[in-house]
Amino acid sequence: MNVMIDIQDLHKSFGDNHVLRGMNLQVMEGKTTVIIGASGSGKSVLMKHMIGLLRPDSGKVIVDGLDTTTLSERELSKIREKFGMVFQGAALFDSMSVGDNVAFPLREHRHLREKEIQEIVAEKLALFDLIGVERIFPAELSGGMRKRVGLARAVVLEPRIILFDEPTTGLDPITTESVDDLIVSAKQRLGVTSVVISHDIASSLRVGDHVAMIHEGVIVDQGTPNDLRNSQHPYVQRFLSTWFAK
Ligand SMILES: Nc1ncnc2c1ncn2[C@@H]1O[C@H](COP(=O)(O)OP(=O)(O)OP(=O)(O)O)[C@@H](O)[C@H]1O
Ligand SMILES: [Mg+2]
Repeated sequence: MNVMIDIQDLHKSFGDNHVLRGMNLQVMEGKTTVIIGASGSGKSVLMKHMIGLLRPDSGKVIVDGLDTTTLSERELSKIREKFGMVFQGAALFDSMSVGDNVAFPLREHRHLREKEIQEIVAEKLALFDLIGVERIFPAELSGGMRKRVGLARAVVLEPRIILFDEPTTGLDPITTESVDDLIVSAKQRLGVTSVVISHDIASSLRVGDHVAMIHEGVIVDQGTPNDLRNSQHPYVQRFLSTWFAK
């Protein structure tokens, strides 16, 4: 099995706030890796290192065999084309129609005729059960539909890696489950490598092939969802017990 993202001994501080303290994590190709941890534990900071939006103080981020920590901004931008990102709250452009939102990465990165763009947009929307919604504006959509548009936009360049930053936060349980299904189907239908950042334990255990728990700047335990359920690490047990108590 190929390692798609290899995080090696990563350190990152902001002033005297030492957020990542020797982080090691391997994201396997074609699998869904979930990162769980408390608010402020450094999940988003870790994710931003994966796509080179943040530079580490020390350590390596190797994407598909290439050490990205030594690359120029221009070289990094090519690497970023391998990634799709689903931002928290979907982060759609409100002034653009759904069709233009999904077409945006295509217009930025590909030289295509308008007809081809429209075809790809319709095809990607259909993947997520959105038909004929191109002219609607984001404000007119429900939260779950916005997430699905965000997902369609994230896959429009056919990335090999999709990063989801808290894709289910603030959604009702039913919509949460359907977003989870979307993550699983993106893996099955598109064969992508996914990294999901979450503090929703139920969803993490549902979608993850591999789950890693971040605490005090390092991964304190990781494994299959079952491994995590049976973890002997006291912090993991405490974190999970808040959910099992429900
Ligand atoms: N650009 C930045 N400048 C300074 N400090 C930062 C920056 N980004 C993050 N931090 C700090 O790093 C720490 C980790 O932040 P991060 O956003 O990674 O947390 P998180 O685990 O994603 O939390 P949440 O679950 O609330 O999203 C926090 O203390 C935060 O204040
Ligand atoms: Mg975060």
